[in-house]
Amino acid sequence: MPIKHFIDTNDFTKEELMEIINLSLKIKRCIKSGYYPQLLKNKSLGMIFQQSSTRTRVSFETAMTQLGGHAQYLAPGQIQLGGHETLEDTSCVLSRLVDIVMARVDRHESVADLARYATIPVINGMSDYNHPTQEMGDMCTIIEHLPEGKKLEDCKVVFVGDATQVCTSLMFITTKLGMHFTQFGPKGYQLKEDHLKIAEKNCKVSGGSYTITDNEDEALKDADFVYTDVWYGLYDAELSEEQRLAIFYPKYQVTPKMMKKAAPHVKFMHCLPATRGEEVVNEVIDAPYSIVFDEAENRLTAMRGLLVYFMNLAAKEIDKEEQAKSKADLEEFMNN
Ligand code: CP
Repeated sequence: MPIKHFIDTNDFTKEELMEIINLSLKIKRCIKSGYYPQLLKNKSLGMIFQQSSTRTRVSFETAMTQLGGHAQYLAPGQIQLGGHETLEDTSCVLSRLVDIVMARVDRHESVADLARYATIPVINGMSDYNHPTQEMGDMCTIIEHLPEGKKLEDCKVVFVGDATQVCTSLMFITTKLGMHFTQFGPKGYQLKEDHLKIAEKNCKVSGGSYTITDNEDEALKDADFVYTDVWYGLYDAELSEEQRLAIFYPKYQVTPKMMKKAAPHVKFMHCLPATRGEEVVNEVIDAPYSIVFDEAENRLTAMRGLLVYFMNLAAKEIDKEEQAKSKADLEEFMNN
């Protein structure tokens, strides 16, 4: 059976994603109770970063430590990714040296190619296209903060601002899970047609919906969760900061006035890092309805679940007969 990778949530069914989310929440409960299950004992994670990171890096490394494994940080610029050494060779080498790889890359093709050549699971830690590990953490957070009497499929999630890879990912997972997604953003910075086609396909299966609009009242009406992200394109340096501000400010800044247009029980979300005073004001990000630090904590929740799930799938490929024979050989050597 081919090795499974986590490059895009659209590669998985709703049931598979819910299995990973529920596993993540189960492990979180264990650890909160003081029991650290050593599910990744002796396992090594290679963490490739072409970009800087706080949450992704720290949560993956902490997850490995808590579950009995070890993580190696391969810092930006410290590893060849399609430079002097081909990406294929890097992927083959890492497959021999560690048990699982995560990569945050400049271009999506890099993580997709890593996975293509790897014989171990590869997890996408964010590319210029999507941010699937953020999606999984966000779903853990939404489940923990579901409005009273509502289930996931009843919830409306509104993303305000630029169609970043976090916005793309949020649309992918909400539509996959049968939720109702809206992007409130300016024309030219709205989700593109090829992304919408994927959402449409997801909705046909799940019964969810998506809306793209630049009308604030329509977007915010009955919103259960309001989400935003930075206005500077992480990978797109075409516009100066002043030009971007002129596009998004003030209409797309999340303010208390905007939050009042949502449902009374609305929660505010942000993947972080936030540029306070730009896409969101302090009065919102520091409000009691803000769950941004729960979201940051749930990056760790989701990383644990993802690592255990993919390592467990890989473990199923182990030849048990060969393992028993090797163990017996070694015991014979030790006893002589
Ligand atoms: N949200 C997120 O991915 O944060 P980092 O860039 O700090 O990892």
